[in-house]
Amino acid sequence: MQFIAYIVVLLGLASARKLPSYIQVCRRDDSTVGDCVLKNLEVIRPKLAQGIPEMSIPSLNPLEIPAATLDSGGSFKADFKNIRVYGGDKFVVKKFDLTVKDKFHFDLDLYLNDLRIICDYKIDGNILVLRLNGHGLMTANMTDIVVHVSTDGKMYDKNGKQHVSFTNSQVDNLVIKKARFQLDNIFGDNEQLNVQTNQVLNDSSEELIKELTPVITSVTRDIVFGIAEKTLQRYTFDELFPQ
Ligand SMILES: *[C@@H]1O[C@H](CO)[C@@H](O)[C@H](O)[C@H]1NC(C)=O
Ligand SMILES: *[C@@H]1O[C@H](CO)[C@@H](O)[C@H](O)[C@H]1NC(C)=O
Repeated sequence: MQFIAYIVVLLGLASARKLPSYIQVCRRDDSTVGDCVLKNLEVIRPKLAQGIPEMSIPSLNPLEIPAATLDSGGSFKADFKNIRVYGGDKFVVKKFDLTVKDKFHFDLDLYLNDLRIICDYKIDGNILVLRLNGHGLMTANMTDIVVHVSTDGKMYDKNGKQHVSFTNSQVDNLVIKKARFQLDNIFGDNEQLNVQTNQVLNDSSEELIKELTPVITSVTRDIVFGIAEKTLQRYTFDELFPQ
C-alpha cells in the first residue's frame, strides 16, 4: 500500500531580526561551528517546550499541527486534526556534522525516548486485516525512536543580503521500536468492537508501524524542515555565521 501525506503547518511571516542575546554567535569555521551550534541548542532547550517566538520556533511540547492526511489513493484514508505532539523537545543529538564555509550541509542523528501524539482522527478504509470507519480521539505512544536528518543549503539574496535555504532535505532511517495506539469510538457505540479493534491494533502494532513508516517519515520531514526553514529565514548568513 502506498500512502501520500498531506500536512498543514501554520506559517507566520518571518521578518529579519537580530539573534537573541542568549545565543552565542558561531563563526564561519567548520572546525568549531558544529560544537558551537550544539552548545546553543542546549542553551535554548529549556525554552523549546514553550517555543521561542522571537526566533520563530513554535512550542515543541506540545507541537500543534492543525491537520494532516494519509491517503493510499483508494483503499484507505485518514484525516487527523488538532494534532498535539508531546515530548519533541526532549530529543537527544547522537551525531551532528555541520559545514558552512564552502558548502552548507548537515547530518544529524536524533533519538527520542518518548513521543506521544493526541489528535482527532477520521478513518475510512482497510488497513492490515481491519476494515475501519470511524472518528474520535486518537492517542499514539511511541518509544525508542531514531531518525537521521540531513540537508544541503543554498544561498539566496533578500533585500541585498545573503540568506540560506535548505535544499535536498532528507529524513530517513526512521525506526520506531514500540508504539501503542488507542482509537476511541472506532465503531461508534459498539464498545465490544471498539475494544476488539484496539486489541488488534495493539497486537499488530509492529506491522502497523512498518506500513506507516514512509508516511510518518515524510510528515516528519515537512515538520522539521518547515520549522527550521522559518527560523533560518529570519537571519542573514552573516548574522548566523559571521566570518
Ligand atoms: C500513553 O501513555 C500515557 C501516559 O503514560 C497513558 O496514560 C496512556 O494510557 C497511553 N496510551 C496508550 C494507547 O498506550
Ligand atoms: C499490547 O501488546 C503488548 C505486546 O505487544 C502487550 O504486552 C500488552 O499487554 C498489550 N496491551 C493490551 C491492552 O492488550
